[in-house]
Amino acid sequence: MTNHTMTIEPHGGQLINRQLEGSEREQLIAEAKEFPSITLNPWSLSDLELIAIGGFSPLTGFMNQADYKEVVENLHLSNGLVWSIPITLPVIEAQADALTIGSRVALYGEDDQLYGVLDLEEKYTYDKEQEAKLVYGTTDDAHPGVKKVYEKGNVYLAGPIHLVERPKHDEFVDFHLDPVETRQLFQDLGWKTVVGFQTRNPVHRAHEYIQKAALESVDGLLLNPLVGETKSDDIPASVRMESYQVILKNYYPEDRARLVIYPAAMRYAGPREAILHATVRKNYGCTHFIVGRDHAGVGDYYGTYEAQELIGQYEDELGIRILKFEHAFYCTTCENMATAKTCPHDASAHLHLSGTKVREKLKKGESLPKEFSRPEVAEVLIKGMQEQ
Ligand code: ADX
Repeated sequence: MTNHTMTIEPHGGQLINRQLEGSEREQLIAEAKEFPSITLNPWSLSDLELIAIGGFSPLTGFMNQADYKEVVENLHLSNGLVWSIPITLPVIEAQADALTIGSRVALYGEDDQLYGVLDLEEKYTYDKEQEAKLVYGTTDDAHPGVKKVYEKGNVYLAGPIHLVERPKHDEFVDFHLDPVETRQLFQDLGWKTVVGFQTRNPVHRAHEYIQKAALESVDGLLLNPLVGETKSDDIPASVRMESYQVILKNYYPEDRARLVIYPAAMRYAGPREAILHATVRKNYGCTHFIVGRDHAGVGDYYGTYEAQELIGQYEDELGIRILKFEHAFYCTTCENMATAKTCPHDASAHLHLSGTKVREKLKKGESLPKEFSRPEVAEVLIKGMQEQ
């Protein structure tokens, strides 16, 4: 019998690695002192990192105008691969004017650390309203993703990048694996099928229910919380990370689930972001990806199942299996977690708590019903929220 482990191909067929090492790295760091420079905000820095580590394969840099236009208008790269969200490097006009096409640009973080270098191939202006409308589905600047579009610089810089320094994720160091490492991990664990789970919230009973429903038919779960920039009223990543550890320890079999950070910024782009999330998890080696209710949504901008409908149209092209779940809740009559597909009782039997209500309770130090949140998780959240 052969010991054949099925692996999923990265998007575009090859896992990208734009990290420099050894003398090449030393040399570029030395040369970069003479390059014109720009400072990346945390959002752009996380994009740089994800390109460099292959999370955004097949991208090797920030998108040029041809790719940008095709992505925004048609959800594809100019080479025909499906891609849903522009990955771009915005700067203000004065900065762009000072940079020459064909030159190299040193990329610093807000901490004055040199992180990378851009081979500047193109700079172009773009239509913010069009980007808002087509990518986020709204031009309303109350939408946190759209607000960012309106705030950012008017010019995009494009070209391949090189990473010379890893952004630090010191507090999450045990959970910091790159796509090449998660792929190896899945092989080592003997997982042929792996379901990826995106989250920007603590794991509540509904999340646990859909993860475990998925786990019944695949080998392993990659719990892959987003820890990059989120909006200010989301629960901070450090608190969430603690809650994930505690739920895994108490309620998941050790050999069936792994916690790894996803160091990206949250766009809140709903349906389009669901496609990006699935694409990236494919690069991390997941064969399956969960899309539940209002995935990556915010407020009332997207319909409950709009993300599922859009991703359904691209699933074959994406090459990762999408596991769709209906809105899950605790039913007091079933005395169980359920969805409309499995529970016949009316809404009065269903326990619902809005995110706002949950945060209010936590801030006041009130516990959450055990049907909503595991008590160990609630405890971590109360402590975390009170320390804010
Ligand atoms: S997200 O912005 O990262 O999508 P969240 O962390 O709340 O937000 O959701 C993580 C995943 O769980 C998403 O796929 C989302 O659709 C799904 N999900 C969240 N809550 C529920 C629920 N009550 N029922 C079904 N799916 C849910």
